[in-house]
Amino acid sequence: MKNILSLFDWTGTWAEPYAEAARSTGEYDVYYFDIKDGMDINDFSVEFLIEEMGIDEVHGILAAPPCTDFASSGAQYWKAKDADGRTEASLDLVYQVGRTIEFYQPKWWALENPVGRLQKLIPELGKPWYFQPWEFGDAYTKKTGLWGDFNKEGLERLKTPVDPVRACAAGSWLMQLGGKSERTKELRSETPKGFAQAFFETNR
Ligand SMILES: C[S@@+](CC[C@H](N)C(=O)[O-])C[C@H]1O[C@@H](n2cnc3c(N)ncnc32)[C@H](O)[C@@H]1O
Repeated sequence: MKNILSLFDWTGTWAEPYAEAARSTGEYDVYYFDIKDGMDINDFSVEFLIEEMGIDEVHGILAAPPCTDFASSGAQYWKAKDADGRTEASLDLVYQVGRTIEFYQPKWWALENPVGRLQKLIPELGKPWYFQPWEFGDAYTKKTGLWGDFNKEGLERLKTPVDPVRACAAGSWLMQLGGKSERTKELRSETPKGFAQAFFETNR
């Protein structure tokens, strides 16, 4: 059984192909962690993961931590967020991902965040590999960085680009989707399905 951890995953979209394989072949076991399901990643500890959850070994880790304090689209708020501790709190979550990876030493792992300042704040992450949802068949734009140890060449080979639908010259319908409601935020942050499938096919 290959255990997959999907961190900051409320919709389950990124891990869905693994969950589908789990249902059909039993090859995987997928564990989802999101605060909306009552799982605070700040509370991760060896005791919690091993003793309470019973997760002794991990094959792969997916992580989509909150980008609100890192994405370039919110750059005008960075100064205020740096001063009042919000940036630090968001960085702590990324460090929790790092600790989890270090602890389990999975075969592969990936952390995603939209284009922004994450690699500047955590230089150890190095340069990301970027993709657009439309490159994997979902017709919208949202330039996203992926850090980690995963099969980039395989992903490049599986690209099936489509024409992105643009709401206006500035960008996709997704980015134009206004409002601060939870539903709007969820739509904007759901992992694109085509990318999720390609990721699964190249990282087994
Ligand atoms: C950028 S969104 C990623 C959403 C994901 N791509 C999906 O399809 O559901 C960040 C997610 O982190 C979750 N989150 C925020 N703080 C958290 C925490 N302390 N522990 C666990 N999850 C958290 C949010 O609820 C949100 O679903």
